[in-house]
Amino acid sequence: MKVIKTAEEFKQIRKSLENKSVGFVPTMGGLHNGHLSLIQKAIKENDVSVVSVYLNPTQFNDKKDLETYPANFDDDCALLEKAGVDYLFAPTYPVMYPDDYKYMLTEKDFSKELCGAKRPGHFDGVLTVVMKLLNIVRPTNAYFGEKDYQQFKLLEGMVQAFFMDVKLIPCPIVREENGLAISSRNRKLSPAGLAMAPKFHEILAAGGSEAEITKALENAGFKVDYVTIKDNRIYAAVFLEEVRLIDNLER
Ligand code: PAF
Repeated sequence: MKVIKTAEEFKQIRKSLENKSVGFVPTMGGLHNGHLSLIQKAIKENDVSVVSVYLNPTQFNDKKDLETYPANFDDDCALLEKAGVDYLFAPTYPVMYPDDYKYMLTEKDFSKELCGAKRPGHFDGVLTVVMKLLNIVRPTNAYFGEKDYQQFKLLEGMVQAFFMDVKLIPCPIVREENGLAISSRNRKLSPAGLAMAPKFHEILAAGGSEAEITKALENAGFKVDYVTIKDNRIYAAVFLEEVRLIDNLER
């Protein structure tokens, strides 16, 4: 696996891959089996695989959340190497934001709802960094997990709005056997928190109205950030031991 740190270097390499299909998985590190499922798909479906590891500060509205994000670059490298990834793009802030975030991409509608309503500026940061990454990597296919379903829909809208030549591929949520959606943030939970967390999915799967689901989550001990049913999907975010967990489910 070749590790690339600058946009210029990656763009040079990309020129040499002109006739190949390139599968890209953008990540913020803290890699787990959910990421691995995307990475394996990217390797299988393309000639060349690229993963980025970049903990993007502009999508964190809460400084503490950014500072405590559980990522370990050496562990991530070892996992990617073992999986058989061809290129790891691991830029720094000055590489990704030579403009110091003077330019940003905003969506004015769906990005203001659900997670966007609770995390102001979050989706501006996501859309901006993904646009930059797609411009650098120029993948044929880019893979995103459906755990961040709102993120996926917004990115899909961005690709259409800006006539971008990339196919975005949604990948199903990977869950623990107990139903808990796998997330880097699960690592921040205590053993007691980890034992309680699967109830989040269990309660969403049991269904009901927004008010009923909210009440069931509160009774189980979660602090509910939001529960919204929209377009036949339940979206929810809760706090458990101050760790924010999200999940969603088709109805
Ligand atoms: O889903 C994520 O991990 C991030 O939002 C992404 C797409 C890598 C952008 O930083």
